Amino acid sequence: MEALKRQAAACALERVAGGMTLGLGTGSTARHFVDLLGEKVRAGLKVVGVPTSEATRAQAEQCGIRLTTLDEVDRLDLTVDGADEVDPALDLIKGGGGALLREKIVAAASDRMIVIADETKWVDALGRFPLPVEVIPFGLGATRRALEKAFAVAGVSGQMALRKGKDGHVFVTDGGHWIVDCHLGRIADAPRLAGLLNAIPGVVESGLFIGLASTVVLAGASGIRIVERR
Ligand code: A5P
Repeated sequence: MEALKRQAAACALERVAGGMTLGLGTGSTARHFVDLLGEKVRAGLKVVGVPTSEATRAQAEQCGIRLTTLDEVDRLDLTVDGADEVDPALDLIKGGGGALLREKIVAAASDRMIVIADETKWVDALGRFPLPVEVIPFGLGATRRALEKAFAVAGVSGQMALRKGKDGHVFVTDGGHWIVDCHLGRIADAPRLAGLLNAIPGVVESGLFIGLASTVVLAGASGIRIVERR
């Protein structure tokens, strides 16, 4: 699986040119991309990156990749990131690694987003992977009730679980928020659900990435498949 993730990362790297500003994703697949990008940078490629998490920041710094912020640059040319699920409309579930908020801010500030993944991430409909929803700790009970109502309106239902870290304590995001993982099974209308979730005051962002990915690079046993947004 790691070899497949690295192949997808290498394929995305072919689309990186000198002088680009890049969004640097988070997760095990994006980690391969940052690693390979670091090799190119050490060989002389000039790019500047915006990391989507503190973990990616640390890795990029170690690799010698020059970093900037979205306060210093207007737009990014390209973001390369992984995903937990990708559907045929190129809508995504992200946030398995807990970095969904920065990932979405960076992707939305980018002219293009390439998603890199192994082929197991491709699904007919989003939702088998529990949908991460980043929430404000204050008023969690009210937010959970509002989430339930939004799910009912969108025609989905399922268990919600407050994410815990490996140490058993509540997982805290880079932004100081919590994550509720929603086990919905099958989301028939992901854009509609995304809109409903974003209207809830205690919700910071959901892991539904609608209309952001321009290209998906899927690596499988029989090779690489590239799907472009139509
Ligand atoms: C991080 O918050 C996530 O959005 C990741 O991009 C996603 O979970 C994919 O991670 P892997 O590449 O580790 O599967």
